[in-house]
Amino acid sequence: MITATEQSCDGQRTEGGSVFPLLIRCDSSDATLARTEAWIVQNSEELSAKAATHGAVLFRGFPLATDHDFDTFVAAFGLPNFTYEDSLSNAVRRNRTARVFTANEAPADVNICLHHEMAQTPIYPSKLFFFCEKAAEQGGATPLCRSDILFDRMTKEMPQFASDCADKGLLYSHVMPAVDDAASGMGRSWQSTWKASTPQEAEARMTELGYAWEWQDDGCLKVTTPQLQAVKRLRNGGTVFFNQLIAAFHGWKDARNDPGKSITFGDGAPLDSRTMDRVIEMAEEITFDVPWQAGDVALVDNYVTMHGRRTFQGTRKVLASLVAS
Ligand code: FE2
Repeated sequence: MITATEQSCDGQRTEGGSVFPLLIRCDSSDATLARTEAWIVQNSEELSAKAATHGAVLFRGFPLATDHDFDTFVAAFGLPNFTYEDSLSNAVRRNRTARVFTANEAPADVNICLHHEMAQTPIYPSKLFFFCEKAAEQGGATPLCRSDILFDRMTKEMPQFASDCADKGLLYSHVMPAVDDAASGMGRSWQSTWKASTPQEAEARMTELGYAWEWQDDGCLKVTTPQLQAVKRLRNGGTVFFNQLIAAFHGWKDARNDPGKSITFGDGAPLDSRTMDRVIEMAEEITFDVPWQAGDVALVDNYVTMHGRRTFQGTRKVLASLVAS
């Protein structure tokens, strides 16, 4: 069995009485993948609980090098796989194993803004794992931001906006291409998203999930979600800013999409851009950038912590895996 200890790291924050993120470093010089797997199996519940308490756990120094090693690491937690095919994710992704996929195929100069994974859809994972196969030469950190801390600050500084978010929820709109567009952070085609080969099949799925839609002349599809929560109450009594507001407001931009039109309150009222700028600024103030080293794994509680991707130079290979509760 291996041994691992909790350590501090540069930039680590203290939020609500706990450190964020928690760093767990493998101390065993003779660690193997099999021993790591056994250690996770034995500690999986405690590690999941730590992710919920701290918002994220960073694992460093464990003997992981490949996508299959990462698959073994994630599978050892014993949690159900949340598959890309079943998700309504906007991103174009490529699977490496049944559980592991490339985090986002969007180009290096595309900044992916903070978001809760798939909170812009009615179906979302409870946790995310990231694995650094190869760190970028420059940049490419994964920013992590505690949404419970952010919402707490919003409630104090902008109480009306915070309560509007909680009371009204949000509507998200975006245009899906007719074929996957890997040049965009939100380039997944409507066929892939809805698992449909005809417009009729897509419409049946959208009706089932409460979406509104509008077909475009060029074969693209504009969709609007049903009213989705912007604020989530957690089982432990915490309240989190659980949504994709920041990403949709600033980041949903490509050849088909204008971020100014991508999001409104649930009653259709527009969001004030000055207020949103301040929310984004507040989120940045409490964000921790994961300084990736090859072999690192980050376990992110998707209900508590938002993530994104900084721009980078060079080759960056960060893989992801999602799990349901
Ligand atoms: Fe994401």
